[in-house]
Amino acid sequence: MDHFTYRDGRLHCEQVALDDLADRVGTPAYVYSKQTFTDHYRAIVDAFSALDPIVCYSIKSCGNLHIVKLLASMGSGMDVVSGGELYRARQAGADMSKVVYAGVGKTDAEITEAIEAEIGWFNIESEAEFENIARLAEQLGKPAHGALRINPDVADPRTHAKTTTGSKETKFGVDIARARRFFETYGRNPHCRLDAIHLHIGSPIYSPEPYVDATARALELIDELRAGGHVIDTIDIGGGYAADYESGKSPAYQEYADALVPLLRGKDLRVIIEPGRTIAGNAGVMVTQVQYVKESTSAAKRFVIVDAGMHNLVRPAMYDAFHFIWPTRVAPEHTPPHRAAEMPLPGLETSDIVGPICETGDTLAKARDLPPVQRGDRLCVFTAGAYGMVMASNYNAFPRPVEVLVDGERATVIRRRETYDDLVLTERDAHPV
Ligand code: LLP
Repeated sequence: MDHFTYRDGRLHCEQVALDDLADRVGTPAYVYSKQTFTDHYRAIVDAFSALDPIVCYSIKSCGNLHIVKLLASMGSGMDVVSGGELYRARQAGADMSKVVYAGVGKTDAEITEAIEAEIGWFNIESEAEFENIARLAEQLGKPAHGALRINPDVADPRTHAKTTTGSKETKFGVDIARARRFFETYGRNPHCRLDAIHLHIGSPIYSPEPYVDATARALELIDELRAGGHVIDTIDIGGGYAADYESGKSPAYQEYADALVPLLRGKDLRVIIEPGRTIAGNAGVMVTQVQYVKESTSAAKRFVIVDAGMHNLVRPAMYDAFHFIWPTRVAPEHTPPHRAAEMPLPGLETSDIVGPICETGDTLAKARDLPPVQRGDRLCVFTAGAYGMVMASNYNAFPRPVEVLVDGERATVIRRRETYDDLVLTERDAHPV
């Protein structure tokens, strides 16, 4: 469900042809569809409506101020993981009582800012962090509110090793046995009220089962804690709901909700969910331009060399992630019927799509079938809205791309392209310390 469609051989974001837009703003460019953001937010709220959840959009997935503002204006809470993300949430006018703050390494300064801002919940990852939050809350004379992040050790959340978080070996949360002791020690602390459980088992998770497994374990723990006299009124089941990278390969919101709602309904718990990618992923694309087409000496391989790479979108290089890539202009017979690695179309050529960075790993796609392309053509990298621009870097001193938000026929630059001057701005003023 998104608003990136081919019409008369030209790829449009809502009513704007991406080729025309690239003429105006250059490449590489991140382009977002406002309607897709709002559709996705509403769809997830609707799917889980039986629980009336607090939806906390995970800012880390796509944190542009204008996007965060858009979601805040629709009533979304925010999931943050740093002082910088909290700052973005505040700048966007988000409701602080609907902010959850995760992360294993919160600093004193960050905790202080969050207590002062009166955020909803700290998602607490360790005993030492709890003690620090309680100490700072006491000092500030303002009570904090905590959810203990538990690590339910779910079997096979079927995500990439670098993004799994719910198994025993990760740095996140505490295991269930330790959670019981945690509540015995800290469950009645007056400075940081501990009355919630937090889970986040990984991202992306391509089926509802690991959530069901993890949530069931959390509910058992909550029953035990309640029986022991603790007040638990909130469960935060985290994010990780997949985006549609390949057409139809990811569950829709409703499938996750159908599995989770019956488990959570009637439990006298406020429910929080923290979706990021499932809202932002298909709401954004990256448009890039072909610089050169290079045949390898053995002619066994063809490289399509584009002006974007791992510095703009690191997911393929870092996680072997699949992103569908297709030209922004195509002959009628090359209009893609869906988004997938295998395309049942005539006359395609197999190429590696690579960037300009000085690393062999700088690929956007390997052995990918594409319609024939030449220097100057634009390619669209789909489902790049989440963990795209937010993970972009200045490696090899490339200025970071422009971000554009499309609303119907209107396109607005919501972050200007960086300049060479931006690259050295924070280095100009060297001074002794
Ligand atoms: N809540 C917590 C506590 C998280 O750590 C995350 C993501 C989310 C929510 C949102 O997950 P989402 O719904 O967006 O999948 N860079 C990787 C993903 C890292 C995810 C980190 N945590 C990628 O590009 O796939």
